[in-house]
Amino acid sequence: MTKLWGGRFQKTAEQWVDEFGASIAFDQKLVMEDLAGSKAHVKMLQACDILSQEDAELILSGLGILEQKAQAGKLAFSVANEDIHLNLEKFLIDEIGPVGGKLHTARSRNDQVATDMHLYLKNRVQEIIAEVQVFQGAIVEQAETHVETIVPGYTHLQRAQPISFGHHLMTYFWMLERDKERLTESLKRIDMSPLGAGAMSGTTFPIDRELSAELLGFSDVYANSLDAVSDRDFILEFLSNASVLMMHLSRFAEEIILWSSEEFRFIELDDTFSTGSSIMPQKKNPDMAELIRGKTGRVYGNLFSLLTTLKGLPLAYNKDMQEDKEGMFDTVHTLMGALPIFEGMVRTMTVRTDSMEKAVQSDFSNATELADYLAAKGMPFREAHDVTGKLVFLCIQRGYYLKDLPLADLQEVSELIEADIYKTLLPKTAVERRNSLGGTGFEQVKKQLEQAKYLLGQTVQS
Ligand code: ARG
Repeated sequence: MTKLWGGRFQKTAEQWVDEFGASIAFDQKLVMEDLAGSKAHVKMLQACDILSQEDAELILSGLGILEQKAQAGKLAFSVANEDIHLNLEKFLIDEIGPVGGKLHTARSRNDQVATDMHLYLKNRVQEIIAEVQVFQGAIVEQAETHVETIVPGYTHLQRAQPISFGHHLMTYFWMLERDKERLTESLKRIDMSPLGAGAMSGTTFPIDRELSAELLGFSDVYANSLDAVSDRDFILEFLSNASVLMMHLSRFAEEIILWSSEEFRFIELDDTFSTGSSIMPQKKNPDMAELIRGKTGRVYGNLFSLLTTLKGLPLAYNKDMQEDKEGMFDTVHTLMGALPIFEGMVRTMTVRTDSMEKAVQSDFSNATELADYLAAKGMPFREAHDVTGKLVFLCIQRGYYLKDLPLADLQEVSELIEADIYKTLLPKTAVERRNSLGGTGFEQVKKQLEQAKYLLGQTVQS
């Protein structure tokens, strides 16, 4: 088959060579974006008197037919036509005759492919933001139920201080809020039209780039034609934002996995989000959380892959850039898969308040309370820390917790200690009293929840 660009060639490549160079296997995902770009381009060409009304209408009707066929899955793409752009141009010419060849006036595949990618990512990023927001809703719901549920808080994965479980959960809300912000801010650079940059230098035709940009719903146009066709920063930025988002999901997944272990028993995942073992009948595995943790690797990989692809490229377009697509598609697919799964997992999980209660009763996570108690009574905090540390050591030797130490023993160490210490040492008191701004005190957690619900109501859904 002769190529659309075959004029200067004497011989044609063999199929296996074509197959290596072709992107149609994956860039057919851009079919609707490519057709939308072509429609806007034709309308602009007509408005600028570069195409006659008759030709423009014919081409637009042909593109309309292709749109319908694409929606019905009736376009038989071929490797011989290399990519989505040439496949569609060939279909158009088959559909309406040689006039279809006028579509490519004042355009190149270089500005065409960049336009497709901008359009694609603009929509996907908004969908991802909406999914993140749904997930945040599930977190808020669980957090609201568990403002007064107390769990050990950890540093170094060692029991540190008791906290509200709602407070713990809300941490993920804020991480996701920043992810949403980053994605939203990146839209400014995604929402830009490269169309009309031509192969690299612009065009001799009197085109109107602002018009085609407007027809496609873009807010801005690239100021430099070389930059327009060479830039893939907007994809890198997406992959980078996606990597941070996946890192957050992965940390949460890790906690879900820990919490559902027999060692913690803090939560039980719903059967509908768990799997069994083919050999061990008792098993209930947190596969979905593990998979999300695992898939983080491929998202990071996609970022590094594109960074590496781009690093040595001279201006402007190079075929290397065809490698920008699969990683981007894969990242979108991974996020759009992981977010609803995580949302379902969090929404349906059972929180084992009994185990959490047991955990905070039997540890030293209230040691800071004793030190603070002494410090509030005038002892320098460093000394209070030391005294409490000695008491912890004493308890460990005798097999007690702080709350079990008789008052006389406590007073032997410091006369400042009185009977009210036992109330201070209660995990609930410890949490309740951490009422500093953003702290785990119940009042503060409730404030956070209010703020979160306000933000959820404010964010404009796509
Ligand atoms: N399939 C190509 C890509 O994805 C489209 C642009 C091709 N341009 C060119 N001059 N070969 O990057």
